[in-house]
Amino acid sequence: MKNDHDHDEKKTGFGLGVTRRKFLKTMGSGAAIAAASDALTGRGTAEAEVIKPEVIVKVNLFINGLRRSLVVEPRWSLLYVLRAKLGLTGTKVGCERGECGACTVLIDEVPRYACLTLAVEAQETQIVTLEGLMHGERLGAVQQAFLEQDAFQCGYCTPGQIMSTEGLLRRDPTPNPDEIRRAMSGNLCRCGAYAHIYKAVGRAAKLKAAKGGVS
Ligand code: FES
Ligand code: FES
Repeated sequence: MKNDHDHDEKKTGFGLGVTRRKFLKTMGSGAAIAAASDALTGRGTAEAEVIKPEVIVKVNLFINGLRRSLVVEPRWSLLYVLRAKLGLTGTKVGCERGECGACTVLIDEVPRYACLTLAVEAQETQIVTLEGLMHGERLGAVQQAFLEQDAFQCGYCTPGQIMSTEGLLRRDPTPNPDEIRRAMSGNLCRCGAYAHIYKAVGRAAKLKAAKGGVS
């Protein structure tokens, strides 16, 4: 006669001593696969729950015109690497799930969420962060426009808004109001400074044009 234990083993699909309870217990720690393979080799549960060291990968990232060689774990986001490993904290952490746009950077000229981009994915691409728009201590054209138009309150979303604006103006130097709204739709501002942000995008287009399209 089948007992609960047998039933649990059947449900997991693993069998061979990995019960549903054990599977659920280990799943959160990332050790479920190790537990399954250890059941096959006959090793104990305590040993199976040890998280194995991650693989380290060497990557070359081109950031703000500089080549940066570093070792990363494959699961690290570009956002994490920029901030925690390279000290480029102009890129902000917001939702970390592709909803707010605070982490926007340019990858090969296109605005992208750094929180949803793995560092290994960004290998051999050209990455521009907020720091890359500065000219020494002087602000870039888009940064200057946001300042002039008072296009922020708390300022937390501002780096992402600026990078989306920069991406838009590199693609289309003279966007109309609809195009501006569409291009900025991936960047949320919880302070609701949208009216000023849209004005700043228009002003940035003029400032960049006056500088021959330079940032
Ligand atoms: S932090 Fe990346 S979209 Fe919110
Ligand atoms: S200025 Fe505060 S979130 Fe945009």
